Amino acid sequence: MLKEIHEQPTALAQTLQGRVTNGDEVTFDDFAPGAFAGVTDVQFVACGTSYHAALYATQFLASRGVRAQAFRAGEYATSPAPVKSDTLVVGVTQSGETADTLSSLRSAHSRGARTLAVTNVVGSTAAREADDSLFIRAGPEIGVAATKTFSSQIASLALLGERIIRDRTGLASDGVSELLESLESLDRDVRRVIDESRAEEIATAYLDEQSYFFIGRDIAHPVALEGALKFKEITYEHAEGFAAGELKHGPLALVTPETPVFAVFTGSHDEQTLSNVQQVQARGAPVIAIASEEHDAAIETADEALTYPDATAEVAAILANVQLQLVAYHVADHLGRAIDKPRNLAKSVTVK
Ligand code: G6P
Repeated sequence: MLKEIHEQPTALAQTLQGRVTNGDEVTFDDFAPGAFAGVTDVQFVACGTSYHAALYATQFLASRGVRAQAFRAGEYATSPAPVKSDTLVVGVTQSGETADTLSSLRSAHSRGARTLAVTNVVGSTAAREADDSLFIRAGPEIGVAATKTFSSQIASLALLGERIIRDRTGLASDGVSELLESLESLDRDVRRVIDESRAEEIATAYLDEQSYFFIGRDIAHPVALEGALKFKEITYEHAEGFAAGELKHGPLALVTPETPVFAVFTGSHDEQTLSNVQQVQARGAPVIAIASEEHDAAIETADEALTYPDATAEVAAILANVQLQLVAYHVADHLGRAIDKPRNLAKSVTVK
């Protein structure tokens, strides 16, 4: 896992190679020009970490005016959402072999929707069966806990999102220049996060706690969920991710000085997350901010901070997630867990 965390700059460079240019154009010619012009709505289906990438993609599209939803494939396979012929159903699956995701794609296809597989494996079942494929080009991933493929999924889905928007409207989305600029330096920025991270120090300071919470809103919400999933998968400690605004609707009852809260900031609606931070601090919980190194308010309010180079929110999500991967890794390492073979889990789940 640690090796694959360190491979992320290379993986991301491969993912983005030839797909991004300077200025405000996405050179993303994996699909014919106008391929998505008729798409009215997008449904993402996925499991586990890939579901969090699907949530990210949903946020990306919905915030730019495209109707988009993410579904857990295990649910969609048995309770599918209605589709039309111009619905694009996207299966996000690193392996391309996850049974529930394949079932969901088949269900969508049989009901007349157009299907697309976003996968790391050329020749996988998802790639063969879907109408189209988008390869994330992360390189082989062995660790059960997905790391570099999540980063590459997100980067690929941001580009796909831009292509869908441009094909539908003929125009690039607002903020595309900032997105492309942040993507251009992404591999170097991830390298810096890895080289300069204080995650091990934070991990050792909070090794023996009752529970670990992860919060974020907007595009930081899937990052919080992924941070908690990675943490529970390899540390075997209780961890939960929440939409920051949901805290007061239940989870706040669990907050004590023994529940460290990792608060993810990406630069989108951060003031509201800061007020959630103050709510948990008032109950004695220590807060670790995951924030841009330029985000003084988050760094000063939180008890600790893990920072990343400033980037636009959609790219900040990738950088923040790398810090959370490192926290999970170091906690698991200090607890002596079998990081590369976590109990009860498999890399690819090919049964329903
Ligand atoms: C398993 C793995 C997870 C992965 C999920 C979906 O549960 O342990 O790491 O996120 O399957 O896998 P996929 O290959 O479809 O992305």
